[in-house]
Amino acid sequence: MCGIFAYLNYLTPKKRHELLAILIKGLQRLEYRGYDSAGVAFDEVNESDTEVSSIRVIRRQGKVQVLSDIVTHLKDIDLDVEVSIHVGIAHTRWATHGVPNEVNSHPQRSDVTNEFVVIHNGIITNYLDIKTLLKTKGYVFESDTDTEVIPKLMKYLWDSEQCMNMSFTSLVELIVSYLEGAFALIFKSTNYPGQIVATRRGSPLLIGIKSDTKVTTDHIPVFYSSERNKQLQTTEEIPAGSNPRLRRLNSYTHFSVADESNKQVEYFFASDASAIIEHTNRVIFLEDDDVAAVEETGTLCIHRMRRDPTSSLAPVRAVHTLEMEIMQIMKGNFSCFMEKEIWEQPDSLVNTMRGRVKFDDNSVRLGGLMEHISSIRRCRRLIFIACGTSYHSALAMRTLIEEMTELPVMIELSSDFLDRRTPIFRDDVCFFISQSGETADTLCALRYCRKRGALIVGITNTVGSSISRDSHCGVHLNAGPEIGVASTKAYTSQMVVLVMFALVMSEDRISLRDRRTDIIEGLNKLPALIKEILSAKDQIKALAQELHKKQSVILMGRGYNFATCLEGALKIKELSYMHSEGILAGELKHGPLAMIDENMPVIMVILKDSTYTKCKNALSQIVARSSDPIIFCTKGDTEIIERSKWYLEIPDTIDCLQPIISVIPLQLLAFYLAQIKGFDVDCPRHLAKSVTVE
Ligand code: F6R
Repeated sequence: MCGIFAYLNYLTPKKRHELLAILIKGLQRLEYRGYDSAGVAFDEVNESDTEVSSIRVIRRQGKVQVLSDIVTHLKDIDLDVEVSIHVGIAHTRWATHGVPNEVNSHPQRSDVTNEFVVIHNGIITNYLDIKTLLKTKGYVFESDTDTEVIPKLMKYLWDSEQCMNMSFTSLVELIVSYLEGAFALIFKSTNYPGQIVATRRGSPLLIGIKSDTKVTTDHIPVFYSSERNKQLQTTEEIPAGSNPRLRRLNSYTHFSVADESNKQVEYFFASDASAIIEHTNRVIFLEDDDVAAVEETGTLCIHRMRRDPTSSLAPVRAVHTLEMEIMQIMKGNFSCFMEKEIWEQPDSLVNTMRGRVKFDDNSVRLGGLMEHISSIRRCRRLIFIACGTSYHSALAMRTLIEEMTELPVMIELSSDFLDRRTPIFRDDVCFFISQSGETADTLCALRYCRKRGALIVGITNTVGSSISRDSHCGVHLNAGPEIGVASTKAYTSQMVVLVMFALVMSEDRISLRDRRTDIIEGLNKLPALIKEILSAKDQIKALAQELHKKQSVILMGRGYNFATCLEGALKIKELSYMHSEGILAGELKHGPLAMIDENMPVIMVILKDSTYTKCKNALSQIVARSSDPIIFCTKGDTEIIERSKWYLEIPDTIDCLQPIISVIPLQLLAFYLAQIKGFDVDCPRHLAKSVTVE
C-alpha cells in the first residue's frame, strides 16, 4: 500500500550515484507494498553552492526497475559529485486516487520549481475540501491524487507572511493539523536544504540511525511544540564555520550546530524495516502524530504538538535493536520470494513453536499472554478479527478453539465487523490476526474494541507494528519477514499460534489430557510432514499444467479443511487471476452443484476425520454429474485412491493440524499456475502486501 523511503546523510560524504543507489535499493525492498509507479526527489546542487538548492524529481510508471534504469544513467548531472549533507526521498505506489501514471506518482510537488515535495502512504479523506479552497486561491493541480493538496497547501502557507520564518517542523505541524485520514508523510523543501521532516497518523513509519560512533542511546526524548515555543526565543546563533547552506536559515531549533558538528550520521526513513536492515539495526518506531525532524544540526528530534495528559505514550521513543537478518529478506536461489517462503515453512513453524512448546513434558507456554490467561478463561466471548488469509487462519482453528475452551467463538472479517458496528463488551476478548500488523481495517476494528473496554490480543508477524503496539498482550508469529504479496508462511504460523493458544487454554482440563498430548505430538512431527508434502512438487506442477488454461476451478471440503479450500481459492485467484471458489461440501446441494459438469475442474479435500463419510457422499454427487475431481486424500487411503483418476496423498496427522499441511499443495499450485502463465508471482496485479487504507 505504497512504500516510502528517505535517506539523509549528515557529514557523511557520499557520491551522488551512491545516494541514488541507496534510494533505489530502499524502494526495491519496499516494492511489495505497491508497484504501479515509483519516483525520487533529490538535491541537484553541489556542496559548494550557496544558493538555495534545487530539487530534481524523477517519476515513472511501472516497477522500480523502470525508475532505476533512468536514475542510474542520468547524463545531465554529475553523478560523481560528492555531497556531505543530502536529503533524498523515494516512493513506490499502489494507486488509490488517480490511475497509475507519471503525474500521479510521488513525490508530489507544490509547483514546477519543486519548492516543496512530499511522499505519502495512506489516504487524505478531506483532500477535496482543501483542493477546492486552493483552487479559489489560483492553484492549478496537475495530478488526480489526494496527496497533491499537501505540498500545495504548504506552499500557500509558506507564502503567507506568518509562516515565512517558521521552522520546517512547525510548518509540517501546521499542515498536518489540516489533514484528515491516514498518512505517513516525508517532506523535503528547497527552503530547508539539508533537512527532512516526517510524520505519521495511521500508516507505519520508522527511522533507522547509523552513526560513525555506535548508536548507544536507548531512547530519544519527545519535545512538545506547545512548550517548545518558549525556548525558541532563546535560540542560539548558528556559529560561523558551519555549512554555508545551513547558515542561511534562521534556526528555530534548540540544538546548536557547534555541539554536533563532528557527528557523522545517516538516517533512513521507511515504511518498514526491510528497507533499513541492511544499513542499521537501530530503529525508532514513530507513534501516531509524532513529527520527526532532522534539522540543521543533524540531530534527530521528535516533536508532538502538545502533551496529552490522558495518553499512555511515554515522553520518549525507544531506540530498538532489530534482530532481523539481511539474509531473511534476500531471495537466495529461489525464483521469487513466495517460492522461498513456501519452502521455508518447515523452519518457520519450528521458529513459531520455539521456546513455547516443550515436547519433553507436553507443556505449552505463551509468554505474551501469561499475565492475562486467567481473565481470558473467564471471558464472555473470544472474537477473532482479521482480513483475507489471516481471517482464514482463525476459521481453520475455530473448531479446535471451541473444543478446547468451551467458550463462544466468533470469527469476523474486519471490514464487515466494523460495518455492523458489532456490539462489544468489557468482558470480551478480541484477537487481531495480521501478518503485517498494519492492515487498516483490522487496526480500526482493534481501536473500536479497545474503546469499548475489551481485552485486545494481537497476533502479528511484525515486531513494532501498529497492531502489536496497540494490543494489551499478544503473540508474535516469529515466521520471519514475509515479502511475497501472497501470504504463505505467515498463514501456517498463524494456525500454529492458534493451536498453541487452544492448548494453553485447556492445560487444566483433565478430560482433554490425551487430546492435548496427541496434538502436541502432532506439532512435533509437523515440520517433517511439511517437508514430505513439499516433495510432491512435481506432481503439483503437472496439475498446474493441466489447469492453467481453464477459466475456473472449484475447491471443496468441510470441517477443518473448509478454510483450506477458501485459502487455496484465494491464492489461485490472486496469483493466476483465474476464477476460483472455495465451497463448503455441506453446501454443495444448496446451489453449487448446478455448476458441476465434465468441464468444471474440481479439487476435493477428503481427509480421514469426522467429516470423512460426508465428504465421500459429496464426492459421489460430483461424480454422478460427470465430474472427475482431483482429490487430496489421506496418505494410504486406498478406497479414495481407487476411485479417483488424479489424487494427491496428504501425510496423515491429527484432525486439527490437517489444514496446516493440506494448504501447502494449494500454495504450490497457485505459484506454479502464475509461473506457467508468466505472471509476476511476488507482485500480483492491483494488489499490495500491506493494506493500510480502509
Ligand atoms: C492474501 C493475503 C491477504 C492478507 C490480508 C491481511 O494472500 O496476503 O489476504 O492476508 O490483506 O493482511 P494482514 O495479515 O497483513 O493483516
